[in-house]
Amino acid sequence: MTLPLRGLTRVWHLGECLLGSDAMETDYHWRGAFDNAEVNELHAEAFGHHVLGDDWAAQVERHSLGWVCARDGDVLVGFVNVAWDGGVHAFVLDTIVAASAGRRGIGTRLVGLAVDGARAAGCEWLHVDFEDHLRDFYFDACGFIPTNAGLIQLV
Ligand SMILES: CC(C)(COP(=O)(O)OP(=O)(O)OC[C@H]1O[C@@H](n2cnc3c(N)ncnc32)[C@H](O)[C@@H]1OP(=O)(O)O)[C@@H](O)C(=O)NCCC(=O)NCCS
Repeated sequence: MTLPLRGLTRVWHLGECLLGSDAMETDYHWRGAFDNAEVNELHAEAFGHHVLGDDWAAQVERHSLGWVCARDGDVLVGFVNVAWDGGVHAFVLDTIVAASAGRRGIGTRLVGLAVDGARAAGCEWLHVDFEDHLRDFYFDACGFIPTNAGLIQLV
């Protein structure tokens, strides 16, 4: 699909796309297929809450620029959602890696592929916010630079 964006014509692959495998044979798919149940389980483990019944597939199809799935064989071991304002701003949300697959570089790779996907779609800025303990991950490993940001809790 070709989208006009700020006077430029950019080619944006909306379909699923295998982005490669790492040395541990983990496969990475931009807009990869997933079951809601496997993302709900991964999210619950990552954020320490009970397993919810969220409809991730509908959410990301409707609102996201894309997402990346990391799989060891058939098992979903990582996920990141790339939300979008429809213009030049994209937002990294819900970077999650299974504890059993942690500290193998999967999170860094997921975010790197989110960067690639946002850039390929013509975005100019990729945003993220996070808690203090993840500074090493987002700043040092993933390459984000510090900036001021704000947040209002609405509920
Ligand atoms: C944060 C998270 C996605 C990182 O995934 P990962 O695959 O383990 O990360 P990587 O292996 O790419 O880590 C690269 C570096 O980032 C830093 N890092 C990664 N996870 C970290 C953590 N939980 N706490 C502090 N630093 C961390 C380390 O410096 C690490 O390098 P090292 O392993 O050589 O020490 C994963 O820990 C996770 O799912 N956490 C729970 C959910 C969460 O908080 N997500 C972020 C929402 S904003």
